[in-house]
Parts: sequence; structure tokens; C-alpha cells
Amino acid sequence: MNQNWLSKFPPLPEDFSGIGQPIDLARWELSRFLPESAFSLKVEPEMGDAFLLSGSTITGGETGVLYGAYALLRHLQGGAPLPASSRPRYPLRMINCWDNMDGSVERGYAGRSLFFEGGQFVYHPARLRHLGRMMASVGLNVLCINNVNVHEPAQGLLDELLPDLSALADLFRPFGVRLMVSVDFSMPLRAGLATADPLDGRVQTWWAQTAARVYREVPDLAGFLVKADSEGRPGPFTYGRSHAEGANLLARALKPFGGVLVWRCFVYNCRQDWRDASVDRPKAAFDTYQPLDGQFDENVILQIKNGPFDFQVREPVSPLLLSMEKTNMALEVQLAQEYTGQQIDLYTMAPLWKEIFADLEPDRLSAVAAVSNLGRDDNFFGHPLAAANFFAFGLLTWNPEISPEETVSLWIALTYDLDASSRQTLLRWMMNSRRIYEKYTAPLGLGWMITPHSHYGPNPSGYEYDLWGTYHRASHTAVGIDRTAAGTGYLTQYPPELQARYQNASSCPDLLLLFFHRLPYDFVMKDGRTLIQRIYDDHFEGAAEAAELEKALAAIPFPEPDRTVILERAEKQRLNAENWRDVINTFFHRLSDLPDARGRTIYP
Ligand code: GCU
Repeated sequence: MNQNWLSKFPPLPEDFSGIGQPIDLARWELSRFLPESAFSLKVEPEMGDAFLLSGSTITGGETGVLYGAYALLRHLQGGAPLPASSRPRYPLRMINCWDNMDGSVERGYAGRSLFFEGGQFVYHPARLRHLGRMMASVGLNVLCINNVNVHEPAQGLLDELLPDLSALADLFRPFGVRLMVSVDFSMPLRAGLATADPLDGRVQTWWAQTAARVYREVPDLAGFLVKADSEGRPGPFTYGRSHAEGANLLARALKPFGGVLVWRCFVYNCRQDWRDASVDRPKAAFDTYQPLDGQFDENVILQIKNGPFDFQVREPVSPLLLSMEKTNMALEVQLAQEYTGQQIDLYTMAPLWKEIFADLEPDRLSAVAAVSNLGRDDNFFGHPLAAANFFAFGLLTWNPEISPEETVSLWIALTYDLDASSRQTLLRWMMNSRRIYEKYTAPLGLGWMITPHSHYGPNPSGYEYDLWGTYHRASHTAVGIDRTAAGTGYLTQYPPELQARYQNASSCPDLLLLFFHRLPYDFVMKDGRTLIQRIYDDHFEGAAEAAELEKALAAIPFPEPDRTVILERAEKQRLNAENWRDVINTFFHRLSDLPDARGRTIYP
């Protein structure tokens, strides 16, 4: 089995009967590397996930001792700094799987579901224990196992499938990982009720009884995750109710059992008429939820997607994350590389998250969630190097202060035995990989020039006349949408310092220029280049760098089977980058009729 950053750890035992609790696992893991006399574990339950390391003693809560053990092992194996004490910044550090019970994974790029096949639970316990170990080793503690788009028979997770859910919860318990399930707001209808109206007493009773049944089987379930009134999913709007009324309905059912209700804020008009320029999709989450601040129960967490559009390569921080004073919030990011190369192209995400955290007050969040990049491929992640994203997500949600370089270089040290120069080369390319991908795809924060539905490869106008609200409105003179107060007004959703940062095209950071502004092709950028020249240059550079990346990766002595997979994908990435370069450059050249100042090939 592929061990990835646990490559220096021995495989877990096949017989897990002696390992029922995190402390048992902590003891087992430590005793692989240290004589039993060389460490002691002390549980102080009130410490929760936190731990202290002093001399040879790890003191922590029931899960804290396990996190302390992994911190010590990261230090011994990869030279990670060893803290004297540590506690996670957020109590909930969540992975959201978008797995369907037919075995498919929505936006999955690493094979089929790890949990389901043919409408049933089908899994290998050893594989899932390895997943539990991967999560625990980087401090992740909640696993939502099914797609937010709840397709039958997943509604049965609250009903006839509960014994299976309970068995799975048992499997993950020693890893300190609690399960969560995505539920469908209209479930009472499936049970035969005439309505799912959150203010209807029968509906309230149904959810209360359902939660009681679920918690009898899985007493430590973390809670429910809901996608409501979003991309065709049912929700409270059907009954003329607000999202606070909808979320509180479920939260009240969960409350007696200590469960949380995670409510996604991905609500927008996905039936937009492209001719109607008055609607601007990134405004939608703020417009829907900000007025409800203060109306959510204390066990509701609003899970807010970043960016405000979707998971594009570069977007500003969601203004909703900056504007809710009285509501629990979770930041949602996507490890699955839906818009970022689909685990074929190399794309290291830690720098992106770091930018988001830099614009937030990290203490205002209660939780962080990532859409999973996992699947049934031998290496779990499709691309062996995509594992670094999962690893870094765990470390950064534990401690957002840690630097992206630190997470990636630690991942390299734990995963591969490479000499110092190969490690440095790999670190450099991984850290540059987002910029490279960004350069050859949609320019300067514009986003969306992607092949519709599959979301891999270029198609500049694929979504332009569609319903999804993702328009660039490129003409023969200009491109982009003015989102300042003079335009759609999106910018006014931000606090003053961010409004000032983005307000003027002359001072707005280049990489978000076309997110906020509509500009003529001869607009002069800060470095003196015109906008069109910058677009051409970025695309030539991005494709050239993808070619260099392929060569650099070929020169690194990765072990097999990783090497073969990495090189196959690097070649596909190079071809993808060439395709993007030519399609995007030709698109803008045909519209603007402006030549490349350096006379490179742009196809007519
Ligand atoms: C994107 C993605 C969908 C997904 C949705 C979501 O739009 O393409 O597959 O369902 O996000 O976040 O719910």
C-alpha cells in the first residue's frame, strides 16, 4: 500500500482489536520508533485536541495525546520543529467527500469512491484505516462521507443504512476522526410527510426523531452538512422561509446530542440570463446571508466557499467571511483540483490558502473544510504530489501561521528519500506550480475560460452565453466586468481597506485586475506593458514553464511507481499548457487584432 508522507511508518496492524481509542493508537505508533520505557502518555480529558510535550511525557486530551504523538513522529522522521505545547486553531478540521453511493465521486480525480459502490457501503478496512491515519497525522478530525448533492440511496444514511454508518464510525474512532453526513433538506418528503417546511411542527418532530435515531447508532457523529437552495437542491425558499429558519430547524434537532449543523452558503442564481448584466454572481452569498447575521443558532456553522464565485485559480477573499459578526463560520476550500488541473497538472495550494488567511481574521472562523481530493487510486490522490495539498491543509488548519514552504518541504522530507538538491528543486517547482498554472489559463483573475462541465482545458466562451453567471464579456476593445460601485457594486461588500486595495485599476493588484475591472486591451499596467501584451506574455511564459517543469521532474529520482505517474502527468500538463496558450492567445488576438510585441506565434 502506498504510504505517502507516512512512508517511513510501518503499515498498521491487520488486527486492530487492541486499538479502540486514540491513546491506544498513539502508544502503538510511538512504540514502533521508541522503546516503551522512553515515553509516557497522560490523558487530561479537558485538554481536548491540545497537548504538551515535556521530556518523555505527552500530556493531552483523549485526542490530544494522539496529535502529540504524531507531532513527535513528524519531528523524528522529517525534522519538523517540536512544539512544547500545541492546540489547534479550529475545533473542526473537516474533509468533505463528494462521494455518491453508486461509487462515483463528483469532481473526483483519484478514482472511484473509497466508501461506496453499487448503492452500498463497500470498502477495504485497511485502506480506510490508512485514510484515518493520514487525517490524524495532520490533525484533521471530521470526515463527511457523502456528496453535498445527496442522491439516492444516500438519504438512507439516516435510516436503513445506519448500521453501516455506525460500523464506519467505529473504524475511524481510534483516529480521532468523527463522521458527518450530508443531508437533503427535503428528506421529510421521502418519509411520507406532505411538506418539508421548517416552521411546520410535524417536520420539526420528524427531524428531532431522526436525529435521535441517528445518535443512538452513532453517538459521536459530528453533525449534518447541508447544501440547500443551491444548484437545484431543495431548501427553505420553497416554503418562503429564510436560510436561518432552515438551518435552525436542523440545528435544534441535533442540539440535544451535541451535533453541529454545517450549512453551505453556495447560493446563487444558476439560471441567469447572460443578457442581464444587472446580476453579478459573486455578490450572491453576501446578499443572501449577511442580512441574517445574528439569526442562526449557536450550533449552526455557515460554510462559506472561497472564492466568492467558486474555486477558481485566483479570486479575492469572500466578503461574506469578513462581514458576519454574530455567526459561526467555516471557510470552505477545494482540495479536488476541479478548476486547477484535476490532479494531472501540478498545483500546490498552500500559497493560495495563506492568501485567504492573510485577508481574514483567522480567529473569526470556527472551522475549516476542504472538498476531498481522495479516491480509490493506489496512491489515494491520483497525482502523487497532490498528497502534499491534503497534508498542508491539515497542518495549516491546525496552525494558520505556519508557512506554505514549511508544509511543503516537510511533506517532501517525509515522503521521499531525496538528496538536498533534488529536495530543493522539487520544493521550488511545487511552490511555483500555482503561478505556472495561473499564467497559462484564464488571465488576471478573470477565471472561467474552462471547458464547460468537465472543467479541464480551455474554452474561452464555453460559459459565456450560458446560465451560470460566469461571464467575461470580452469585446474587440475591452474585457472584464466593472465590479466597483460604478459597476455591479460587488466591491462595496468589502470593508474599507479592501475596497481601497481594489478600487482603482491603476493600483489594484495585477493578478486580480480583471476580477474587479473592465479594461481596454491597451490599458497600461504598472510595469508599463499593455494589458494585451501581459496576457500574451503570461501565456507564453506559463507554457514554457510547464515544459521546464516536466524536465525538472524527470531529473528527480522519484521511486516507482510514483515516477511513472508523475512523468505521465507532467507530459499531459505540458500539452494542456500549450493548448491553453494557443487558444487564449488566439481568442484575444482575434478580438483585439493587436499583435504580440515580440512577434511570437499566435495562430490566426
Ligand atoms: C461546483 C461544482 C459542482 C458542485 C458545486 C458545489 O459548482 O462544479 O460539481 O456540486 O460546486 O460546491 O456544490
